[in-house]
Amino acid sequence: MTKTISIHSFRGGTGKSNLTANIAALIALKGNRVGIIDTDIQSPGIHVLFALDEQDVEYTLNDYLWGYCNVEKTAYDVSPQIIKELKQNGVESNNLGAIYLIPSSIKAGEIAQILSEGYDVEMLKDGFDKLIERLQLDYLLIDTHPGLNEETLVSIGLSDLAIIIMRPDYQDYQGTAVTIEVAQELEVPSMFLIVNKVLDDFDFEALKEEVKVKYKIPVAGVLPLSNDIVRLASHSLFCLRFPDHPFTKEVEKIVQCIE
Ligand SMILES: Nc1ncnc2c1ncn2[C@@H]1O[C@H](COP(=O)(O)OP(=O)(O)OP(=O)(O)O)[C@@H](O)[C@H]1O
Ligand SMILES: [Mg+2]
Repeated sequence: MTKTISIHSFRGGTGKSNLTANIAALIALKGNRVGIIDTDIQSPGIHVLFALDEQDVEYTLNDYLWGYCNVEKTAYDVSPQIIKELKQNGVESNNLGAIYLIPSSIKAGEIAQILSEGYDVEMLKDGFDKLIERLQLDYLLIDTHPGLNEETLVSIGLSDLAIIIMRPDYQDYQGTAVTIEVAQELEVPSMFLIVNKVLDDFDFEALKEEVKVKYKIPVAGVLPLSNDIVRLASHSLFCLRFPDHPFTKEVEKIVQCIE
């Protein structure tokens, strides 16, 4: 059975794309076939983490939603990037299943067009199903735009698991409550929280407990604000580049909660 997982946050910049990419890579390295779909059609970005070059992208999610191509044409095999990252650390990628990325268009005109004209939501839903079937996916991860919009509601509605990410910031606290409420109304079968960008001098265990009590849902991880991640600057996949880093160790625990 394929597991569909959507990753959300009410506010922007919480670390959704970075975590989605790293979680996907770690899951694929356990022999799974993983798809990642960038439904952040207003401000796509996850392709950068996989070093997917604009010139190599013929069809995007936008093209599929406009009926220009089949959805599988929009899926790009990004395993060479994973293999390259591992090689840099002298590691063999013996157990890599497969990893595909479905990017959204990064062309200004195409973003403007889809935002102004909208698209057929049923087609997006159908696209998820077809990707799962035709790429024989074990996991489909959905990276989303912050806040609540059409894609967010559709992806929560279709997910087996919704992951909500927040920072320890009072603006995030309020918005997170709204996102959780919506996910509960949509009856997502499973949901957990991740707190990201936590300063080192915080008490991580106390924060985890506080958040768990406040929202009454499980907290799968509390991740540090890391200068090393800032320095890497979305240039590649942090967890593969720094396998022994405390951030990576925490992400590995989150992956165990997902499996
Ligand atoms: N734990 C962390 N420590 C330091 N920097 C981080 C951490 N997590 C993510 N970042 C950085 O924060 C920035 C935003 O991360 P990312 O793009 O993943 O967030 P996002 O939630 O997808 O943003 P958006 O809402 O705009 O899609 C990136 O530069 C990323 O490298
Ligand atoms: Mg993002």
